[in-house]
Amino acid sequence: MKARVVIVGSYVQDLSFYVAEFARPGETLPADLRPGAGGKGFNQAVAATQAGVPTLFIGAIGHDAAGAGARDFARQHGVRAEFVVKKKEPTGVASIAINAAGQNQILVALGANLALHIRDVPIRPLTGAEVVVCQAESDMKTAAHVLRTARRQGAVTIFNPAPMHAKVDLAILRHVEVLIPNEAEFVALVNRSPRSGLKNFTTEALLRLAPDRLHALCRTFNVPIVIVTLGARGCFVSQPDVYARVNAHGVDAVDTTGAGDAFVGGFAAGLVKFNKNVFEAAHFANAVAALAVTRHGTASGMPTAREIARFLRRRDHA
Ligand code: RIB
Ligand code: NA
Repeated sequence: MKARVVIVGSYVQDLSFYVAEFARPGETLPADLRPGAGGKGFNQAVAATQAGVPTLFIGAIGHDAAGAGARDFARQHGVRAEFVVKKKEPTGVASIAINAAGQNQILVALGANLALHIRDVPIRPLTGAEVVVCQAESDMKTAAHVLRTARRQGAVTIFNPAPMHAKVDLAILRHVEVLIPNEAEFVALVNRSPRSGLKNFTTEALLRLAPDRLHALCRTFNVPIVIVTLGARGCFVSQPDVYARVNAHGVDAVDTTGAGDAFVGGFAAGLVKFNKNVFEAAHFANAVAALAVTRHGTASGMPTAREIARFLRRRDHA
């Protein structure tokens, strides 16, 4: 079956350490370790696959045990993946601390992910896809090339600027149809964009903004659809002529790592399922993220289509 969603991005071996509280500088703490598959791109691909939409992941791994683990996970979970094996760079690794509140701190060594070159990405899947997604854990030249190619072919292109860093060039936004930043990434984009007219914008200021002001700020990026994810508060959807908050589903979070990835993967799948209806896709994505944060791990915590359907049935009738 042809992939309807194609995600080009990162695979990372996650080492998740569960602790009561985060360590302070110089402190050593005992922790429970759960290793697992991760990486923003891969997490998103697992979320979209499990949500029931044929999805292809394209990313780079090293010639090492962690890379073999990537293949095993993909095989076991029915995730279609084209792993490009790099001889010189190791598979990406992340050290993740998760505290009792389910918050996280992540250190990521991207390794092979940054060596995924334009010539490594097969063009054919991009030309057949309905939705193509990139994040910022890749070489940004490769991401821009993928989004440009996909958009020319008529796919809906999604860019998730996570994590935000100096090499994320705003010129990439020309190729983006749906921009999905979280609060911090949105703030960074606003401060960097000359058209916003702001330089010292903060997350606190963002949370105080009236919806029409937030909408106006979203419009300064010149991207057709901007979705700002707001964690437990859901998300804000801004299109040229319409904007609205889409509320989250309240749950008890045990591990919020990968919540953004659950949202982005769920949204990509939702666009396919709901015939490109952005609000329905966002509502669906909120459910995927809500379920994901109730479980440990990133890729391994993504819910199935059945679980999402059951969850939404209960919520919508409550
Ligand atoms: O978004 C969560 C992901 O970010 C983790 O899986 C980790 O690999 C980091 O890349
Ligand atoms: Na999780």
